[in-house]
Amino acid sequence: MGIIAIHGGLDTSREKPYLEVLQEAGLKGYQLLDRGYIQALEAAINTLEDSPKFNCGYGSVLNLNGVAEMDASIVDGATGRFSAVAAIRQIRNPISVARRLMEKTGQVLLAGQGAFEFAQKEGFPEGNCISEEQFRAWQKGKDRLARGMSPSQNLFTGLEYRGDTVGCVIWDGENLGAASSTGGVSLKMPGRVGDTPCLGGGIFASRTSAVVCTGVGEAFVETLTAKYVDEEIAGGAHPQQAVEQALKRLDELRGAQGGILALDYRGRIGSAFNAGQFPVVVVIDGMIKENFEPVNLRPVLSGE
Ligand code: GLY
Repeated sequence: MGIIAIHGGLDTSREKPYLEVLQEAGLKGYQLLDRGYIQALEAAINTLEDSPKFNCGYGSVLNLNGVAEMDASIVDGATGRFSAVAAIRQIRNPISVARRLMEKTGQVLLAGQGAFEFAQKEGFPEGNCISEEQFRAWQKGKDRLARGMSPSQNLFTGLEYRGDTVGCVIWDGENLGAASSTGGVSLKMPGRVGDTPCLGGGIFASRTSAVVCTGVGEAFVETLTAKYVDEEIAGGAHPQQAVEQALKRLDELRGAQGGILALDYRGRIGSAFNAGQFPVVVVIDGMIKENFEPVNLRPVLSGE
């Protein structure tokens, strides 16, 4: 028994090949649920990190210097344990490094070279995270910047409307957990870190809820949006009400775009966004929930 809900990031395509990888990830996670919900979370996110279709691991967007610097984090809602890596390079599965950090050390966040060295010491292989497609998009973006134009690509995806941070929430009938992984935003400053490794900003889990967010990281950090969703649910809100309220608040406070996915201690799901697309796949008791659609608040919030 259990539920896994997984998203492919703001403005990620909802075309079949993308949904198929999300479904594969959700089912893979579910199959490992009997080995524990943390194992299941890691396996689900690994599947997306290994696919060039998503902005995480291999296929991450590139920073101004043409480097993939990635953030990832994992939270165990039952114990309150949290660990993250930030601005890590050359490691294809940052979520696995974050999990190892949580389980082997008392540290909560390792960044940059230190995160890379920890990963190497733990036996994670060094690997290229730059896909051909992202490299070409980076070249195009830099070229436009050099000519005084704004980059044409999507901020979150680096490409033409495809994929921000991925995230996964899980409920095994008793415990909740959350995991997230990202290349961040396209053409970001070297060393810039977003909301994904910020507990309470882009991710949160407790005995009440598990929450993952995608969108403009700075806005999520400054408004502690993931923690806000948890507090709303703790106060009695249904997760759907909580995520919609959180997006309205984010819009009011920062005028920012985002997508939020939440699960609560009763296995209830909330998902909403206020951007172009937000693909979400839900697996309940090993079966993909047919025709699941997050609520699109963009028409309400933008007055379209
Ligand atoms: N949501 C990804 C980031 O802002 O880093």
